[in-house]
Amino acid sequence: MTVSGPRQTERLRGDVDADLARAADLLRAGKLVALPTETVYGLAAAARDPDAVAGIFAAKQRPSFDPLIVHVLDASDVDAVADVAAVGAHFGALAEAFWPGPLTLVLPRRDVPDIVTSGLDTVAVRVPAHPVMRAVLQRAGLAVAAPSANPFGYVSPTTADHVFDALDGRIDAVVDGGPCAVGVESTIVSLVGDAPEVLRYGGVDVADLEAVVGPVRRGVRVLERPLAPGQLARHYATRVPLRLVTGPRDDVAPGTELLVLLGDVDAAPGYARVERLAADGDPRHAAARLFAALRDIDARAPASVDVVACDEAGLGAAIMDRIRRAAVP
Ligand code: TXA
Ligand code: MG
Repeated sequence: MTVSGPRQTERLRGDVDADLARAADLLRAGKLVALPTETVYGLAAAARDPDAVAGIFAAKQRPSFDPLIVHVLDASDVDAVADVAAVGAHFGALAEAFWPGPLTLVLPRRDVPDIVTSGLDTVAVRVPAHPVMRAVLQRAGLAVAAPSANPFGYVSPTTADHVFDALDGRIDAVVDGGPCAVGVESTIVSLVGDAPEVLRYGGVDVADLEAVVGPVRRGVRVLERPLAPGQLARHYATRVPLRLVTGPRDDVAPGTELLVLLGDVDAAPGYARVERLAADGDPRHAAARLFAALRDIDARAPASVDVVACDEAGLGAAIMDRIRRAAVP
């Protein structure tokens, strides 16, 4: 059994071969290792080791109704955990087009411990692109279950330091692979219904999915007891209250900051601070900086922050999804 008590958290380097081998050894021994992916840092454990996976829930204080994503090195490894043959041609087309990359597919489950899937008859699977994650998966020779490496409900980590901030002493190691390039979590698509359905907006634009498989149902529901916690009304939440606005307001309370998600605003008098995530208007740059900006807000602890909404094209959909949930009162 992986103990959830205090322990020494090793800092490992993604550019040091011996450290990658160490991370793989730890995973094989049932330990908890935070690893960089192209989306956010994940907290990994051997997917077939229920005790190790139980340690993830303990470290994150994550409710056990919330299933995990299984990460594998290659699309051909998915067969072992999911019934790929049952879902038809969409699986192969999506895997070919978007893997390795920020797409998670929900498939009929095969042989995975209940704790990974929360007892659902489906399993979520992803082939990550980050070279450090891939190097560790290859060395370990395992499928790993990995949620984002943050306490449940808080902002996902996009650097190794973010992981240390909250999980130091609660997990066995963090592999530092630098900042995550995508910055928001993977897009989750279910292939178990009669048509593909988005369960969470993320790093792959739904329009790009549709170019490959045709119409995708955009039925991301907000539930009390969700299929994906990405569906929880309040999630990714900062401690500082966020208010979603369409532009700078006229009279704001003293100490209020303005966060501009995309592009710029003409003038913002009265605000204590104005931050632009991507003044160049590229949603990819905004996504890559989003979670770090939310963490910086909590570190500065202003009275409140007005967040200027952005257009929902491309990654804008994933960005606005995160902000809406963070901004719910
Ligand atoms: O980019 C990502 O997806 C990151 C990196 C580490 O891979 N992982 C991530 O994991 O965001 P997590 O646990 O924070 O979010 C996974 C989401 C949850 O909302 C969970 O409910 C959903 O995937 N999920 C997992 N299995 C599912 C299933 N069988 N059916 C529906 N949703 C599922
Ligand atoms: Mg998460």
